[in-house]
Amino acid sequence: MRVLSGVQPSGNPHIGNYFGAIRQFVRLQEEHECYFFLADLHALTTVQDAERLRGLVRDLATGFLALGLDSKRSVIYRQSDLPEVPELTWYLSTVTSMGLLQRCTSFKDKVAQGVVPSHGLFAYPVLMAADILIVKSDLVPVGRDQKQHLEVTRDIASSFHAVYGEEVFVLPDPLILADVAVVPGIDGRKMSKSYGNTIDIFGPEKAIRKKIMSVVTDSTPVEKPKPTENNALYQLLKLFAPDEAESEWVETVFREGGVGYGDMKKRLFDYYLATFGDARARYEELRGDPEEVERILADGATRARETAAPLMDQVRRAVGIR
Ligand code: ADP
Ligand code: TRP
Repeated sequence: MRVLSGVQPSGNPHIGNYFGAIRQFVRLQEEHECYFFLADLHALTTVQDAERLRGLVRDLATGFLALGLDSKRSVIYRQSDLPEVPELTWYLSTVTSMGLLQRCTSFKDKVAQGVVPSHGLFAYPVLMAADILIVKSDLVPVGRDQKQHLEVTRDIASSFHAVYGEEVFVLPDPLILADVAVVPGIDGRKMSKSYGNTIDIFGPEKAIRKKIMSVVTDSTPVEKPKPTENNALYQLLKLFAPDEAESEWVETVFREGGVGYGDMKKRLFDYYLATFGDARARYEELRGDPEEVERILADGATRARETAAPLMDQVRRAVGIR
């Protein structure tokens, strides 16, 4: 199986990105041929400040490596280092109907959040289809919010096949982990950079502690049992609980009462440090060696382009450009 996924460097990596995406990447590379990339071209739909984008790309690349993506096992690269991706995007655009893109909920959601409704934002799913199809990935691990984009990718590939009468692409499947499908943010909505409700993986401990202590809760008194339904703190504790015993502890304190939300949040912070402590230390180390990070990305780009070359040749021939 060939696996591919990308993450936009559009903000600091947060625990939603980790549980919804990066953790799966780390596991998948044990068994599959994997391609993981920084979707910097996609990020331009929201980050339009050169200095900031450079910093975000560097930080996300550092984060990928610190969290366990291994350049010996996986191909790790920057989307913009593959000029074939925008080229393929164009060929795909010409077989993509407006209606298909108009049905994409992410465009409407982002515009509702105040993102400029640019042509790039509208065409975002086509660029994503190119990312996926260019290395012939079988499996694409993503959060549930990206499922529609995978369906669109399959539709675009099928329509290319129908137009040109040649099966050049592999139709990919999404891989979505059901139990961690949506990680809640500190306000109880889906954790997302665009809602400003994230808990970051890296960055100063003090700020993170403060974020964790501000997770929304209701006013159930300390001694009373606590509701678990739609309770962001409960969901986060269950997600982070390092073992069965801790997970059982969480169940018990919610069912029986006697522990206040403040103490539960302190426990959540302990879980957080237990989960990310090592990665946070590696991150600081790698920050001191940006040349190493660059070297890994350059090597990844070379390998990804080697994989893309024969497919691109086939596509150019199919459309009559060669
Ligand atoms: P954001 O919503 O913060 O902008 P991205 O859209 O960049 O995050 O998401 C990067 C990856 O992380 C995607 O695969 C996405 O599905 C996953 N992801 C983001 N937020 C969450 C969340 N709250 N729960 C689960 N997965 C998430
Ligand atoms: N759209 C994805 C997101 O916002 C990022 C992404 C871009 C991606 N290209 C991809 C994910 C290809 C998987 C495969 O999270």
